[in-house]
Amino acid sequence: MTEDGMPRELISREVLDRRVGELADEIERDYADSEELLCVGVLKGSVFFMSDLLQRLSRPLVVDFFQTSSYRGETTSPGEVRIRRDLDHSLAGRDVLLIEDIVDTGYTMRTIMALMGFRGARSVRLCVLLDKACKRETPVQIHYRGFEVDDVFVVGYGLDYDDRYRNLPYIGVLEEPGASE
Ligand code: PRP
Repeated sequence: MTEDGMPRELISREVLDRRVGELADEIERDYADSEELLCVGVLKGSVFFMSDLLQRLSRPLVVDFFQTSSYRGETTSPGEVRIRRDLDHSLAGRDVLLIEDIVDTGYTMRTIMALMGFRGARSVRLCVLLDKACKRETPVQIHYRGFEVDDVFVVGYGLDYDDRYRNLPYIGVLEEPGASE
């Protein structure tokens, strides 16, 4: 924490903005010849990143949201993910861009990507702001990656600790969160 009690800055707003712009340019190029893109944000962490990313795209797209949560601390098999909010749109024949704030163990994305394929999406790509690759327990293919981060507790720009700090305009580190992400 800094002297004023705020999380220490890891990625500044300026660096975030630049990288989000680069990702948007890449996505715009890759989908130049495709039909309307279905952009799916994973609540709640992705909303700040998703908002900035999609405002930089000029191609036709539709916005939808999905929400999951892990069965943390319960007696279930590791990696079991519960769906808390489903999509409004059908996936059949659609090009889907999944937008996520962070991939940690990979279980959330593994579950969501498998489900999208099962529902008949034509293509599914994943755009992730932060990749905590050192914590991965199951492989995940990331098509657009903002930054790789070490095993630190990151908050801000959508990422939370107990639903707090999401509105920090930068990515910060909580040194003593007292809980796991
Ligand atoms: C976080 C994050 C990812 C997931 C990544 O979501 O936004 O969805 O955990 O973890 P994994 O790779 O280990 O599965 P969380 O369930 O904390 O919800 P939130 O987005 O509302 O913060």
